[in-house]
Amino acid sequence: MATMLAVRFHSYGSPEVMGLEEVPRPLAGPGEVLIRIHAASVNPLDWKVRAGYLKERLQHRLPLIPGWDVSGVVEAVGPEVTAFSIGDAVYGMLDFRRNGAYAQYVGANIKDLALKPASIDHIQAAAVPLAALTAWQSLFEVAGLAPGQTVLIHAAAGGVGHFAVQFAKWKGAKVIGTASAGNESFLRELGADEVIDYRTTRFEEAVRDVHVVLDLIGGDTQQRSWKVLKKGGILVATLGIASPEAAREQGVLGQGIGVHPDTAQLGQIAALIDAGNLKPAVTAILPLAEAAVAHALSQTEHVRGKIVLKVGDRTVESADADAGAGASKEAHPDPR
Ligand SMILES: NC(=O)c1ccc[n+]([C@@H]2O[C@H](COP(=O)([O-])OP(=O)(O)OC[C@H]3O[C@@H](n4cnc5c(N)ncnc54)[C@H](OP(=O)(O)O)[C@@H]3O)[C@@H](O)[C@H]2O)c1
Repeated sequence: MATMLAVRFHSYGSPEVMGLEEVPRPLAGPGEVLIRIHAASVNPLDWKVRAGYLKERLQHRLPLIPGWDVSGVVEAVGPEVTAFSIGDAVYGMLDFRRNGAYAQYVGANIKDLALKPASIDHIQAAAVPLAALTAWQSLFEVAGLAPGQTVLIHAAAGGVGHFAVQFAKWKGAKVIGTASAGNESFLRELGADEVIDYRTTRFEEAVRDVHVVLDLIGGDTQQRSWKVLKKGGILVATLGIASPEAAREQGVLGQGIGVHPDTAQLGQIAALIDAGNLKPAVTAILPLAEAAVAHALSQTEHVRGKIVLKVGDRTVESADADAGAGASKEAHPDPR
């Protein structure tokens, strides 16, 4: 039986429950391709799953390989697959209910993939799918953001936020982002018209009459956001709407979002990247063997842009040593 190295956990808990192991290499089933992984990015979803926060909702069977953003090369195609060929460079957001991409190979449904943007490498490409799809679907599918409108993006410097800033700017909207002071120039370079330091300024005193709020924080931030919306405006929240009554009282809409795979949107996003209109910001690149370090970093909730795990030759070498030493798909569920 062919094997591969993968990061797995056998019980929920702290980052250290994850370890590098030799496991069976998956096969490409009907409608799937087998991807030789070059890079996987880290999303808050990954550590929320690992910590067990989503165990009721996602009902994973352990051990589990986490990480659902992938960039790599098609190694084999399953029955009935004509959309991709062996050797194609692909990227995508994998099915959250199955094993993920902290591994050398993954079997992926072709509905979750698109051709990788040609102008960026696998590290950059792996940073894109889940966060960019969330931003795209929130702003365009749910909020219907139009040119000339104003959008307030909370946590604008994070994984989802930094894509949202660029999409909104590209659409012709006025973009206001909240972040700490150290991220102001980063956000202005991405196209933000105004940046509010949430640590020193109450945003609801600085902003009013916005058409759309993208809320990536929830809690008190969400509660204080209702009043900055224009009548008829909409707040889209990745962590759900705590009080629909508050929205009704203000005469605005509140809508939660659960990101879903979309090959066509991934294709449009790749085209924007290749045209120079969108750039993923990768601020940390770690070897696969350091997944626990990557999770601890993500759990600070103050990462700028994205963290990516590299699955390269050197990783495999150190992985071999580590493994030896320790020897012994359709709509995805809401990933909050
Ligand atoms: N429902 C869905 O489908 C879905 C999809 C994607 C993500 N999500 C969820 O959405 C949330 C955001 O995801 P993400 O990937 O963007 O997270 P992330 O990359 O971890 O976000 C980190 C960013 O949050 C900023 N931040 C932290 N506290 C803040 C505050 N009070 N006000 C403004 N900014 C603040 C930080 O900026 P500073 O360092 O400047 O503070 C940092 O840049 C997560 O909870 C994630 O699980 C849900």
